[in-house]
Amino acid sequence: MNTPSPTPFRPARRHLLRTGVLGAGALGVGAASVGLDRALREPSQEPAAAEPALHGQLTVPFHGEHQAGIETPAPAAATFLGLDLREEVDREGVLRLLRLLTDDAARLTQGRPALADTEPEMASEPASLTVTFGFGPGLMERARREAPSWLAPLPAFGIDRLEEQYTGGDLMLQVAAEDPLTVSHAARMLLKDARAFTRVRWVQPGFRRSPGTQAPGTTMRNLFGQLDGSANAQLGSEHFSRVVWIKEGPFAGGTSMVIRRIRMDLDGWDEADRAAREQSTGTRLDSGAPLSGGDEFSRADFEKVSVNGFPVIGEFSHMRRANGIDEGEHQEIFRRPYNYDVAPPPGSDSVSEAGQVFVSFQADLNGQFLPIQRRLDALDLLNQWTTPIGSAVFAIPPGCAEGDYVGRSVLE
Ligand code: HEM
Repeated sequence: MNTPSPTPFRPARRHLLRTGVLGAGALGVGAASVGLDRALREPSQEPAAAEPALHGQLTVPFHGEHQAGIETPAPAAATFLGLDLREEVDREGVLRLLRLLTDDAARLTQGRPALADTEPEMASEPASLTVTFGFGPGLMERARREAPSWLAPLPAFGIDRLEEQYTGGDLMLQVAAEDPLTVSHAARMLLKDARAFTRVRWVQPGFRRSPGTQAPGTTMRNLFGQLDGSANAQLGSEHFSRVVWIKEGPFAGGTSMVIRRIRMDLDGWDEADRAAREQSTGTRLDSGAPLSGGDEFSRADFEKVSVNGFPVIGEFSHMRRANGIDEGEHQEIFRRPYNYDVAPPPGSDSVSEAGQVFVSFQADLNGQFLPIQRRLDALDLLNQWTTPIGSAVFAIPPGCAEGDYVGRSVLE
């Protein structure tokens, strides 16, 4: 697992008891060294006041068995880049592009400027930067390699209102860091180097909590105010490995990625009362606990009925439908979404245009993601306020060793 230092682990819902803040000790190292530096320059009789921890110098290893940016804590800012190969780019061109972008990513993530970086000073705060590569069906075809059978657009769902501008793509780069300026510089650098080979199909920025706002490992709130991600497997666990990493074949050590832009109707949500909002997912808005009781990480009791004999977690609730309990099945995926909140269309009555860049990783797209999405398509109260407007699937190749490039093991 590629882990930044500090490494805030979080427990998986209904799998472990909450263990508190594991990153705090390591965070303290950063804070202490800042304090020491200050103390050397400004001797004082007073005990040093606590300094805020600095995140700029934190790095996540780029090389390794798996690509970084999946089993690493999701940082505050991300930009997802969807690129299309130019018509004239052949197999050799694809490999050259990947070598170039791998070199850029290996440098930038470690706080070093890319070759020909026109703003080299902007590379000096990597802030846990990760760059994760995903291959679309078009890239595999251009590189003249057979794509895995699951690497194709998702089937059309009744809830979909897909827009071309957020759908598909030959190559995906997930650029994420604790600092938006770092993300911006890295994304621009990568795009400049990719320009001779690709055209930009879409760019989707997203955000989560800023570092230092909450204890590391705290589940993010989405723009509906819900705790989102509670049921995820814990990073670094055997459970995570089972859910996410492909075990065999050319993509062993990699995974599949689904990215869907899901618009969230915040104005409509405003009109729903708290009870309706909680019923929509089957979880409490304050604690994230299942409506059947307990805390955020308690196992949901889907059998529990109210005094009137109705299920406490409604049959239409998102959590119940996603879980699969009523179909006698249960699949898991690892969700790593980012919020988006952009300007509403000019002249619109709405005060916001917002949603989620939904991202999930799973070892088996057809066996894990698809059954969940099919159930949610058929019935999910949350659909009343959510609309998928973009969709793409990518194959995430395994990580690479130093001197190698991302994708060699699947393309050569
Ligand atoms: C904007 C869209 C979405 C919102 C706001 C949303 C929100 C939530 C919330 C609040 C929870 C409960 C807390 C948690 O365990 O994370 C949840 C659970 C879950 N969601 Fe979503 N979700 C969205 C889209 C999706 C999609 C597209 C999928 C997959 C196709 C999905 C799959 C799941 C799964 C598997 C769970 C865990 C269910 C369990 O407890 O077993 N969600 N979601």
